[in-house]
Amino acid sequence: MTRPLLIAPSLLAADFARLGEEVAAIEAAGADWLHLDIMDGHFVPNISFGPAVVKALRKHSRMPFDVHLMIAPADPYLAAFAEAGADLISLHPEAGPHLHRSLQTIKGLGKKAGVVLNPGTSPSTIEHVMDLLDLILVMTVNPGFGGQSFIHSQLPKIATLRKMIEASGREIHLQIDGGVTDKTAPLCIEAGADVLVAGTAVFGKPDYAAAIAGLRKAN
Ligand code: DX5
Ligand code: ZN
Repeated sequence: MTRPLLIAPSLLAADFARLGEEVAAIEAAGADWLHLDIMDGHFVPNISFGPAVVKALRKHSRMPFDVHLMIAPADPYLAAFAEAGADLISLHPEAGPHLHRSLQTIKGLGKKAGVVLNPGTSPSTIEHVMDLLDLILVMTVNPGFGGQSFIHSQLPKIATLRKMIEASGREIHLQIDGGVTDKTAPLCIEAGADVLVAGTAVFGKPDYAAAIAGLRKAN
């Protein structure tokens, strides 16, 4: 494929007792972005970490911070994540009643904006907010946990979204999150993805650089 491929390791699978070192190690291993999963135990059945941790890690890395909010409501916390050092903030349409307003808020904070589509959420949900988007994230697992199996039924959705992006004429990243491995990465890329999130497939491996290279090989 000609499209540049970006790898965004998910910190959720890192050693939480050594987060600063883990971030430095993954950057040295060739990661492009750092994916930060924010979970509230309400929108998803798990709790991870909040803006204080994002802020603490910011000084350990020059990588773009890709913050995936799995919290509801998200609106009251957007400024906190922007101030903590997020470069890109993504949220789920189901997290609030006014998706367009939430995206406007993120852009107003000077950050890139993304929308996340759960496995059961249709691409049509974002048809009328494309002009505000810098990234579309397709969940290939139900959000909440790392280490789940890739849901193959999402592949046609990735292809549909690639067509929507092309029709928009805008530069919008198409990111995949959940069950990405060296086996499923080629399928995602073939369907049109250009950013791969990987937790277990990177932090779960002894050699981070080899794991990242393995995901890139698919491109
Ligand atoms: C799941 C998170 C993912 C998770 C992916 O809700 O959004 O980013 O860390 O983990 P793996 O790559 O192990 O499926
Ligand atoms: Zn994520």
